[in-house]
Amino acid sequence: MKKIQAIRGMNDLLPADTAIWQYMEACVKRALAGFGYSEIRFPIMEQTDLFKRSIGEVTDIVEKEMYTFEDRNGESVTLRPEGTASCVRACEEHGLLYNQTQRLWYMGPMFRYERPQKGRYRQFHQVGIETFGLEGPDIDAELLLLGYHLFRQLGLDHCVSLQINSLGSDAARAAFREALVKYLSAHEAQLDEDSKRRLHTNPLRILDSKSPDTQALLDGGPSLADYLDESSHEHFTRLTQLLDAAGVPYSVNPRLVRGLDYYSRTAFEWVTDRLGAQSAVCAGGRYDNLVAQLGGRPTPAVGFAIGLERLVLLVQSEGRLPEGLDASVDVYLAAVGDVQAEALKLAASLREQLPQLRLGMHCGGGSFKSQLKKADKSGAQVALILGEDEAAEGKVAVKYLREDRPQQSLNQNDVAQLLTSVASGAQQEAK
Ligand code: HAM
Repeated sequence: MKKIQAIRGMNDLLPADTAIWQYMEACVKRALAGFGYSEIRFPIMEQTDLFKRSIGEVTDIVEKEMYTFEDRNGESVTLRPEGTASCVRACEEHGLLYNQTQRLWYMGPMFRYERPQKGRYRQFHQVGIETFGLEGPDIDAELLLLGYHLFRQLGLDHCVSLQINSLGSDAARAAFREALVKYLSAHEAQLDEDSKRRLHTNPLRILDSKSPDTQALLDGGPSLADYLDESSHEHFTRLTQLLDAAGVPYSVNPRLVRGLDYYSRTAFEWVTDRLGAQSAVCAGGRYDNLVAQLGGRPTPAVGFAIGLERLVLLVQSEGRLPEGLDASVDVYLAAVGDVQAEALKLAASLREQLPQLRLGMHCGGGSFKSQLKKADKSGAQVALILGEDEAAEGKVAVKYLREDRPQQSLNQNDVAQLLTSVASGAQQEAK
């Protein structure tokens, strides 16, 4: 019979992978807590219109990448391709934006029907950060500082770089768009196929084109920077000053535009050259009009999302991973002979006294030698050995697996005290 496999572009994460994910998620959560952000969770499925109305009808995501289907009631629903729209919907629905500011984050799977390749999947994961009710450039700077802080924590600041741009007000963008279409229409024959199509649907995305010829053509065309309205210009200048003062490195990329329609003013991306074609690790910007567009009161907002698969790939190849990450336990309890009952009792008592301790108990019998082999393989720092003699005397042998220290024999009542340092090491890792 043909075996059933996972859906293309949707990955299983095996224990060796989840160890890295958990470490990375812990780093991300610690950074977010350090900046005073709170977690919000919302469903992975929403009414299709939410994404159409926010991301934009003529975007790649809405036109060709959404997992959309009818539920049993005939309603059109969509697996979320991103989190910003859902976050706005949830905040509005629960009155979180009324006369207050919010600094929020979420983490979880997103779904896009893209062509899978390294760093690009159909189910992928993002940590998203969204702030509401703050209109000055100080919050834009805070977010960029948060991203920078996180990359430094993960030891990745040497291989990512921040690009920023201002998309200006709606009116400014409309004026630029008109000038761009006029210019490019006069040179339409020189455009690549994708850009020809975009000229009549979403011309700003042509700025993003990977074709060198199109990029060369754009050199002679109008620049978005020249169309910026006064207040967007001021906002952007102040943002760059704040980044300079905070020591966050960046470069201004006047051709940086985003693939989602809701942005205005600040737009940014952290890019890397270490992941082949998938260069964006983290991206976002301001979306001051989205809340009103979805039926709420006008509310300034800015945020970004990090692609966690891309972050994991970078951390694996370029970052700092703590030692012993693949260890599933700190202590391995070997039970040699007819001592299962005593071993279970000792394990229960240790777990109660040291809730942070990761203690694995050997099951399935076997010789002393084979149990010690398993202990070593588990990554544990210490093996506790309970044989029939030890059990009869209320003792246990302590063997250090990663240190050159002699084996000890201890009263079972004294083991918890000895293991406190191992447990506090485990606690440090978890933080
Ligand atoms: P986005 O640029 O579509 O923005 O996605 C953000 C990040 O998610 C990308 O930079 C990339 O790292 C990751 N990503 C996107 N698609 C895939 C994929 N198919 N496979 C793996 N990783 C992927 C947004 O989603 C906005 N909601 C960000 C935002 C939040 N803007 C304001 N607030």
